Amino acid sequence: MKKTATTIILGLSTLLLMSGCTESAKKSEEIKSYKYSTEQVYTEMCVKCHGLQGEGVAELAKNGKPKGPAINDQEVYELKLSLTDIKNGGLNQSSGTDHEVMEHNFKAILKKGMDYDTDAMAEYIFNNFHK
Ligand code: HEC
Repeated sequence: MKKTATTIILGLSTLLLMSGCTESAKKSEEIKSYKYSTEQVYTEMCVKCHGLQGEGVAELAKNGKPKGPAINDQEVYELKLSLTDIKNGGLNQSSGTDHEVMEHNFKAILKKGMDYDTDAMAEYIFNNFHK
């Protein structure tokens, strides 16, 4: 009898633990503990270079190099890789592209307390602006 009860209790707590996991694996947006929402950060920090809809700001181009490239043409995984690279100081490991400008920008963004979740940001850009 005692054994059955223990088994049931063990089984129940395993179930509880498991549901706890799926709970925390919810949308990345919900587990963040950042000061500002992804939308606020995008509006405050990214619009001036990437545009309201991620369409880019052509006028910023200098010497043929876009200073405000469009980011609405990227797949969500590309955005995730780029943003992770940028946040990690551009080790350039996952995306294989160079993000010198953005790394510089990111330091300024941090100084303003506008840190953000890279996955949530990638999803925000993709879900709202992708065309
Ligand atoms: C001062 C202008 C400026 C601001 C502000 C800025 N960016 Fe950028 N961003 C650039 C430039 C220039 C590039 C291309 C060169 C590079 O990646 O360093 C770029 C590249 C990117 C890329 C990679 C695009 C690719 O093709 O790989 C992403 C993603 C991105 N920015 C997102 C953001 C987000 C999110 C913010 C706000 C938190 C932001 N940027 C703020 C200028 C800016």
